[in-house]
Amino acid sequence: MTSQEIKSLTNQYVMNTYGRFDVAIDHGEGAKVYSPEGREYIDFTSGIGVCDLGYGNELWAETVFAQAKRLGHTSNLFYTEPCARLAEKLCKRTGMSNIFFANGGGEANEGMIKLARKYSFDKYGLGRSTIISLKNSFHGRTLATLTATGQDQFHNYFFPFVEGFQFAEANSLDSLKSAAGDDTCAILMELVQGEGGVLPLDMDYVHSVAKLCVEKDWLLLVDEVQTGVGRTGSLFAFQQYGILPDVCSFAKGIAGGLPMSGIMANEKCKNVLAPGTHATTFGANPVCGAAGLVVQEVLSDEFLADVQKKGAYLRSQIEALGLPCFGKTRGLGLMIGIEMAGGYKNGEVANRLVEAGLLVLTAGPGIRLLPPLVITKEEMDAGVSIMKKTLS
Ligand SMILES: Cc1ncc(COP(=O)(O)O)c(C=O)c1O
Repeated sequence: MTSQEIKSLTNQYVMNTYGRFDVAIDHGEGAKVYSPEGREYIDFTSGIGVCDLGYGNELWAETVFAQAKRLGHTSNLFYTEPCARLAEKLCKRTGMSNIFFANGGGEANEGMIKLARKYSFDKYGLGRSTIISLKNSFHGRTLATLTATGQDQFHNYFFPFVEGFQFAEANSLDSLKSAAGDDTCAILMELVQGEGGVLPLDMDYVHSVAKLCVEKDWLLLVDEVQTGVGRTGSLFAFQQYGILPDVCSFAKGIAGGLPMSGIMANEKCKNVLAPGTHATTFGANPVCGAAGLVVQEVLSDEFLADVQKKGAYLRSQIEALGLPCFGKTRGLGLMIGIEMAGGYKNGEVANRLVEAGLLVLTAGPGIRLLPPLVITKEEMDAGVSIMKKTLS
């Protein structure tokens, strides 16, 4: 099919819930993707932080194929090897104790919210179920995670929202203390607010919150749906922050392009979700698990150190352009935000870059870059040169 045919068919038969760019993608290689007509795009988005190994990774594709042939799905009523091994790997690399596998980020966060409420219910009974999340956060599109999302624009249309959520200003311990009360059971945060504009939380603030959580027996819930799986240059961002959350969610890059997510619990929380309290038909799919093992194999400690170097290089190259529409860059590893300057609008800038052959994202009022973690220097340079040509 041509790009035009794909777009027409999609617009006729798929619900119009996404603000799509005017591009159809057919295939990819490394950090490049191609339209059906063969137009090349440098990809600084990796499918919104998912395709960490880029496109066309042989080992990943062969492993997925072999596992699909062997066993594509059974159910969680039986044991299978790939997710058992993936869970072991994730726990050993992070110090967490066990894992529940799900399918998407919002769903993983739902599980984390349920776990926190059950922990509190088991220990303190009813009436201690409020979760405090941060303003400007994003936690998903299910009803509870939309409610937990600290941006007013998401609290619309779908009334009534879920009870038991409060908001605090990011990086303000005072704001957190005044939002909290006897009914608080947990604090939920992204360590780098992604959709909100790529805003890393202050290290001191995160440490103080972690300490407060221990004092009050609030669970510390860290949403690593976007920051996790190597994106920030450590396997999980909490490792760079020097904390161990009670529960941490992950999704996006975990299986290198297949739908998979989950939550990891620490020793204190590992038995909170008992048989019958939480489940999902597709969770712990063996094909996704096998793909996840390939991702773990690639994301060695040396590879992760390189992600930090690549992020620093890309940011320095972008800042060196001195473009009139760009302000400062910020972020961690290959999760990069670019501030807009001079009254320029991020959506317009993103559209111009995409038209010129560079895929980028927006977040908050700025531009967001989440390139494949395997991106090469040449591919980064090619993307930066498109920025220069298009936006100078
Ligand atoms: C921090 C964070 N949490 C949750 C989600 C929701 O994930 P999903 O779209 O897979 O449900 C996202 C998605 O961008 C996210 O960035």
